[in-house]
Amino acid sequence: MTTIARADDEAIARAARILREGGLVAFPTETVYGLGADASSARATAKIYAAKGRPSFNPLIAHVCDLSAALREAKLPPAALKLAKIFWPGPLTLVAPAADRCCVCDLARAGLETIAIRVPAHPVAAALLRAFGGPIVAPSANLSGHVSPVTAEHVAADLSGKVDMILDGGRTPAGLESTIVSFAEEPPRMLRPGAIARADIEAALGRELAGLSGAEAQIVAPGMTASHYAPRARLRLEARALEPGEAGLDFAGLLSGGAQDSRFILDLSPRGDLIEAAANLFSHLRAFDARGVERVAVAPVPQDGLGEAINDRLRRAASPRE
Ligand code: TXA
Ligand code: MG
Repeated sequence: MTTIARADDEAIARAARILREGGLVAFPTETVYGLGADASSARATAKIYAAKGRPSFNPLIAHVCDLSAALREAKLPPAALKLAKIFWPGPLTLVAPAADRCCVCDLARAGLETIAIRVPAHPVAAALLRAFGGPIVAPSANLSGHVSPVTAEHVAADLSGKVDMILDGGRTPAGLESTIVSFAEEPPRMLRPGAIARADIEAALGRELAGLSGAEAQIVAPGMTASHYAPRARLRLEARALEPGEAGLDFAGLLSGGAQDSRFILDLSPRGDLIEAAANLFSHLRAFDARGVERVAVAPVPQDGLGEAINDRLRRAASPRE
């Protein structure tokens, strides 16, 4: 049985109890909803993979309540520490060697010597971490291969009956997963573009991050297969106009034929704002599926700022299914 509860103090206390007992709780972060379990418990972690129907045990992100908790789990080199101090709490995940007394179980780390860690900013996530008192591992709270959820209803659509509780904290503000930067190698590398733009991280570091733009980005984070972010509808990218039978995913009004347009067109951001576009991306993709749309023409989205992450998710959503 899955309980869906408004995320008040009482519900958060109940959620922390469920985690302590080895159960699964879906909760909002500032990026997308996470499917959380006690990071120290391999049994609890295994339930995450079962609930998501993951084909393999991808490593998970450990969520902690503050920097000192992070330093108990990860050996952050000075440059990583610098980013942590600037961007935490917030949508930045750091990959670094695991600390000797790291309590995150091997299963959650997929047997790696490294750990992916972040301090979420969302008040519900922060309160849950404080109430639970230890690291919570959480992938996005969707079935494997589906679009990441940005509302409690999205989570319920995928995972109802498979998780013990869903904490409803409304729509997640960023709508896009965290940016992942790895300090397991030199120079540091962006493994996944996300809610913090590459340029902001590079400015904070005072240097460029290694590699990764465009198609290369699809293979680096383990488990990030090309078709990971997949709606049922087929997407045609870089479209300038709709072909017969297509719906449209627009950006800044390029595809729309004006106010009387009767075709089904959703605009990521009519005013061309990339932050707004990121926040709308996954719910718009789900809206096409909800309407039974089969083919979607997608307008070009600029590559600057959050555009890098948006285009990454669009390419994955458009790539051939495994
Ligand atoms: O915004 C987010 O990051 C959300 C919220 C819930 O925090 N979480 C999320 O988790 O997107 P997930 O499991 O969907 O993606 C985690 C990514 C995966 O691509 C995984 O391969 C990578 O992090 N990852 C985890 N541990 C890693 C490690 N030690 N080295 C490299 N990549 C790692
Ligand atoms: Mg995911």
